[in-house]
Amino acid sequence: MKPLIAGNWKMNGSLASNEALVKAMLDGLGGQAPGADMALCVPAPFLAQLQSLLTGSPIAWGAQDVSSHEQGAYTGEVSATMLNDFACRYAIVGHSERRQYHGESDLLVADKAKVALAHGITPIVCVGETLAEREAGHTETVVKRQLAAVIHAVAHCTSEIVVAYEPVWAIGTGKTASPEQAQQVHAVLRAQIAAATQHPERVHILYGGSMNAANAASLLAQPDIDGGLIGGASLKAADFLQIVALAH
Ligand code: PGA
Repeated sequence: MKPLIAGNWKMNGSLASNEALVKAMLDGLGGQAPGADMALCVPAPFLAQLQSLLTGSPIAWGAQDVSSHEQGAYTGEVSATMLNDFACRYAIVGHSERRQYHGESDLLVADKAKVALAHGITPIVCVGETLAEREAGHTETVVKRQLAAVIHAVAHCTSEIVVAYEPVWAIGTGKTASPEQAQQVHAVLRAQIAAATQHPERVHILYGGSMNAANAASLLAQPDIDGGLIGGASLKAADFLQIVALAH
């Protein structure tokens, strides 16, 4: 299985800056097939632009969220069928910023993962503990609870999800989990997946949280870290490509 390096642009970008950034990434790849699978998860209004810039390239694209509803009176939501219209391969679900600022529960996140899969979109399921939870010794309990909800909802499709371990205290803070801290949690998640599917080896478990060109190598060297979900460093072509180059 090739590693997966996925960018999460969060609420950043503009038509002009996206074009420059994506072109710099494609130029940097220079027509070479990267050693890792690559994806960019972008704000919904830019999906058409990414589809047009990336079709035929080695970089896939995706959304940062998806509605748990199929259609109808859900102002502000974006449905999986809409993401299908723009050929999204991925949708992040349960990012800590959505859990924290939009009150998304484990159950809602699980529903979103299920809806994505039903529409052929790979959910990138984010799990992770807050600093208070880590300090209280609850890291494993929290991530297992978050992942269990998704496994329960998607059942036999568990081998089709991507998991991203993103310790909340490491996101956008410049504080990365040490490779050992991350590996410890990844091993727990791997075991949980192995208990739920006959094909645990198909599931990428990404690390996210201040991963950058300087720290990516040691994180990606861990046996259960299969790639990265990259926020800040995915907004800089050179940094993102360097992480991709380190992942093989
Ligand atoms: P960061 O974000 O790399 O900027 O810490 C990662 C994420 O939130 O997905």
